[in-house]
Amino acid sequence: MAATGQVMLGFTPGETVIVTGAGSGIGRSTAINAAAVGLTVAVWDVNADGAAATVRNIQQAGGKAVSVTANVTDDAQVEAALAASAQMGNVRYLVNNAGPASAAELDFDQAMLAGIGSMRRVTTAWLARGPVSGAALVNVASVAGNLIGSAPDWYPATKAAIMGYTRHLAAYRADAVRANAVAPGLTDTARMAGYADSDLGKRILGRIPLHRMASPDEISWGILFLLSPLASYVNGILLTMDGGWTITQ
Ligand SMILES: NC(=O)c1ccc[n+]([C@@H]2O[C@H](COP(=O)([O-])OP(=O)(O)OC[C@H]3O[C@@H](n4cnc5c(N)ncnc54)[C@H](O)[C@@H]3O)[C@@H](O)[C@H]2O)c1
Repeated sequence: MAATGQVMLGFTPGETVIVTGAGSGIGRSTAINAAAVGLTVAVWDVNADGAAATVRNIQQAGGKAVSVTANVTDDAQVEAALAASAQMGNVRYLVNNAGPASAAELDFDQAMLAGIGSMRRVTTAWLARGPVSGAALVNVASVAGNLIGSAPDWYPATKAAIMGYTRHLAAYRADAVRANAVAPGLTDTARMAGYADSDLGKRILGRIPLHRMASPDEISWGILFLLSPLASYVNGILLTMDGGWTITQ
C-alpha cells in the first residue's frame, strides 16, 4: 500500500489496529485510512452490515481487514471481539470511536455506560491481554463537554468523562499505552443527516470560520496522527478539530 509519495505516518505495515464503531462515519474513515497507511484493521461494530461494507471497501483497495460484530457495552462480546482481533497479530493500536448519538433516547446512567463505560471496558480488556511495545490509543471525545455545553445532559457529560479517562491513562498507564483524544466539531456523518440544511445548522455553520462541517476523512487523519509513531511524544492531549468553531464563540 506504500504508493510513492504517500504519507505512511511511521506505522510498520501489518501491525493491527482495532477501530470501534467502524461500520459508519468517523470510524469507517479511520479504518479505511488506517489500512491505507499499512495497518491491518479489526473493524468492530454492533452493525454487522456496516462493518462488512467497511471491510469490503478496504479489501477492494488492497488493504487487510476483518469484520468483528460486537457491542462495546457488553463484557462477553468485547472479550470475544478481542480474541478474534488478536488472531490477526499483536494488536498495538486501539481507536475507541463507538458512542451513542446525542439524539439517542437514553437515560443518564445508561448513557454513561454506553458513552464512557464502553471505552473503559474495551481499553481495560485490551491492556489486560499483556504489554505490546509502542502501544497507543485514541479516544473519540467531542467539543461537546470539553469546550462547549450541549444537550441532552448526558452527551457533554460522557464526552468530558472520556477526556478525564484519557488523562488518567496518559498519567498512570504510560508504561502500557500512549493515550490521546480528539474533539471533533460538527462532522458530516449519518447521524448529522439533514443538519446542514436545517435552520439551526445554517446558523451554527455560519459561525464556524470554515463555514462547513468536517468530513469524517478529515477527522480520521487527526486520529491516525495521534496514534502513529510520529506522535511518540504526544501523550494526554485533546486535539480539537472544529474548523475554528470554538475559538470564535
Ligand atoms: N458526527 C459528529 O458531528 C461528531 C462530533 C463529535 C464527536 N463525534 C463522535 O464520533 C464518534 C463517531 O460518530 P459518527 O458521527 O461517526 O457516528 P455514526 O453514527 O456515523 O457511526 C457510529 C458507528 O458506531 C456504531 N456503534 C454505536 N454504538 C455501538 C456500540 N455500543 N458497539 C459497537 N458499535 C457501536 C454504530 O453502529 C455506527 O456504525 C462518536 O463517538 C461520536 O460521539 C461525532
